[in-house]
Amino acid sequence: MSSRFSQLDDNARLRHLITLDGLERDLLEELLQRAEQYVSRAGQLPPRSAALAGWTVANLFGEPSTRTRASFELAAVRLGADAINLDMALSSRAKGESVLDTIRTLEAMQVDVFVIRDAEPGLHEQVARQVGTEISVISGGEAHISHPTQGLLDALTIRQIKGSFDRLVVAIVGDIRRSRVARSAHRALVTLGVPELRVVAPREMMPDAEEFAGARRFESLDEGIAGADVVMMLRIQRERIAGAEPIDLTAYRRNFGLTAARLVHASPQAIVMHPGPMNRGVEIASEVADGPQSVIRRQIANGVAVRMAVLEHVADARRKRAQ
Ligand code: CP
Repeated sequence: MSSRFSQLDDNARLRHLITLDGLERDLLEELLQRAEQYVSRAGQLPPRSAALAGWTVANLFGEPSTRTRASFELAAVRLGADAINLDMALSSRAKGESVLDTIRTLEAMQVDVFVIRDAEPGLHEQVARQVGTEISVISGGEAHISHPTQGLLDALTIRQIKGSFDRLVVAIVGDIRRSRVARSAHRALVTLGVPELRVVAPREMMPDAEEFAGARRFESLDEGIAGADVVMMLRIQRERIAGAEPIDLTAYRRNFGLTAARLVHASPQAIVMHPGPMNRGVEIASEVADGPQSVIRRQIANGVAVRMAVLEHVADARRKRAQ
């Protein structure tokens, strides 16, 4: 994010949410607290509200998504908003229309919030700079850089189960170099006070040295998850691998695939997370993904609650600015 752009308004509330970088702990905790109100109890949908009645939320997804897109739509509808879902590959972008012209077109239809996922770094900020003064841009994923609502839902899930972030050891395992999930989880968890973060990856999937400041680096899965309270597994981001660079999946599975036998290295109370989509049998075995330590389904459910909280926050911030 460039230095002159701020996603906060003059009241230090979110007008946009493009990254968790630079956000204060109090604000993240407030969002988690707000999300907690919307968490589904067993067999129940989150309570509905009319917080976004009369609003329109447009989901513009230029990369594939199941969880993020569906949960932003559910979040908008449960808050009383109208939701538009545009698959950018099937939009007029395919006929040469620029993203900004697409935005202008939807602005003319009175869209209030754009949720954008795109592979182009910087696109979210570019759009945020150009939309009307009361329109918000929320990232549903930016290239390998940022996935802020995923970072929040991961933090919420950890807090629900572990109670607090103090004294936790969190190991993020896999294709860290190309993972926006890892970057946003790292940022959220550092801000919220996790004392020990680890990145665990083969050398070619390690981030550059200046990234993930403070995280311990491991090139061995068993050492990297030893005693960990949270093990967050990542998929190999094949779509971000240039050209036809081959990946030896057999070696990857052998060295970095999480099986029940390897999970014994973590704390006995460790939870296993995965943002999805999973490549079962590659980075995670089904016995772990569906096992007693997995909280993957809970992460998915929390995604709706977190996105409701973020949408409600930007709506409240706008009302406050209008007063
Ligand atoms: N975790 C995540 O972003 O999943 P989707 O790609 O399915 O949205």
